[in-house]
Amino acid sequence: MKTIRTLLISIMLAPFISQAQSVLFPAPNSVHMGDGRFFLNGQVEIKAETTEGPVMELAENMRWALFSLPKSDEAGKRVVCLGIDSSLALPDEGYQLIIHSDTTWLRATSFSGLRHAKEVFLQLARFGEGAVDCRVIQDHPRFQWRGFLLDESRHFFGKEKVKQYLDIMASLRLNVFHWHLTDEPGWRIEIKRYPKLAEIGGIGNWHDSDAEARFYTREEIREIVAYAAERGIMVVPEIDMPGHATAACRAYPELSGGGTGFTFHPCKEETFRFLSDVLDEIAGLFPAPFIHVGGDEVHFGNQNWFSDPEIQAFIKANKLVDEKGLEHYFIRRVADIVASKGKTMIGWDEVVDAGVSPEKTVIMWWRHDRKYQLLKALESGYRVVMTPRLPMYGDFVQDYTHHIGREEFNTLMDVYTFPASIWHLTQGYETQILGLQYSMWTEQIADGKRLDYMTFPRLVAAAEAGWTLPRNKNYGRFFNRLHYILKWFDQLGIYYYNPLQPQSRPEPSGPDKEGS
Ligand code: ACM
Repeated sequence: MKTIRTLLISIMLAPFISQAQSVLFPAPNSVHMGDGRFFLNGQVEIKAETTEGPVMELAENMRWALFSLPKSDEAGKRVVCLGIDSSLALPDEGYQLIIHSDTTWLRATSFSGLRHAKEVFLQLARFGEGAVDCRVIQDHPRFQWRGFLLDESRHFFGKEKVKQYLDIMASLRLNVFHWHLTDEPGWRIEIKRYPKLAEIGGIGNWHDSDAEARFYTREEIREIVAYAAERGIMVVPEIDMPGHATAACRAYPELSGGGTGFTFHPCKEETFRFLSDVLDEIAGLFPAPFIHVGGDEVHFGNQNWFSDPEIQAFIKANKLVDEKGLEHYFIRRVADIVASKGKTMIGWDEVVDAGVSPEKTVIMWWRHDRKYQLLKALESGYRVVMTPRLPMYGDFVQDYTHHIGREEFNTLMDVYTFPASIWHLTQGYETQILGLQYSMWTEQIADGKRLDYMTFPRLVAAAEAGWTLPRNKNYGRFFNRLHYILKWFDQLGIYYYNPLQPQSRPEPSGPDKEGS
């Protein structure tokens, strides 16, 4: 067996070949091709170079995954070695993959990096159909937050669909699952102290207010969180407040801020006690250091605040000036509650105006038409995740022949090239940008088939936007290798939109009610 040193020298002498020749999603940041091929026959041995439990488990996991991939008839013994090497100079989540014809080394300084190396090797094995070209990959992500939001309040898809998407996310090296669990049509998580949230709040969805209650039990939440963690994915729950609270207020009308119950009551102590109890259970179920509390679009449903004497008296007594001041007071109280649970609050970009401390808060920028809100967040010292409606919302249509969904375009290319169009705005504040997210709102997505169609392959483009450095991104090359991953989606039974043959499969129908 050649040593790694001999291999590295031979590879350094080999011509540099651009990253595009690696069929990988997302494209890695540095690839040097070597000579020869690593054939995946039935004798490939997967070895952990350590007795550490997680590395041994990863090796076992890889053994199983390779088992189901295409094999080569080429004889000979081959080895794949997995190890953590703290002497490697690699940034966070970085990994090294050295592929020689008889041995492959997967190395990283952290376990998360090693997991990425495993996923990369599995993609190479899958797309290489029994053989992987020799090469050295040294790679790390552009952004630390590479997220996918799924709205299960408007429509509920269930745990098998969520697990399927988590599997795909892991392969794409996406690492945050933002789970939108509460909103107007439905509350989707069991809370022990307030059982009616799920039993009554869980009834209905966007197009059928009488649909039977659908929600995740605490056991199911733990199961999904653990499933995600095994794949290196952090699950960030979103419990939306003070607006988008209709389902909660249906279950507990005494918490309603009046009118349609779109908002929680903004100044009753009972509301804050309730939220503190709920967030306590949420903090216990989700190990992520973040809890997303929404904070968006409060104005849609707070009209009752203008006429409610108790609310008006509270604004006066506390010198909050107006209803906006009251909204900000509410957010500051919630920030303190979240901090008291040992978590960091995340809020939509309206929260920038509430005067909460940047140490306690992360902002999600969603209003693409309010770039000043992104700037204000950065100038105020907040860390920011970017998911502007254009181009990062998946419920906007992707082809001019499509009519179900929000009728502005978020094409595959728009998603891929993000954030180039706004990156100049972040100049000087780059370190405050945690990353980006593809967000799937589901007012007009009622089933798994339509969810697939709106998610894939744009989520693949988002993964590359989040991982690959700008100098290594190239939409033409991405488009040219797309057929490899579409074939994998075929094997998984994913009903994706096919940008290579746009008319090849019909746009799945959606519910008939308009989204907001
Ligand atoms: C949002 O789309 N209202 C965050």
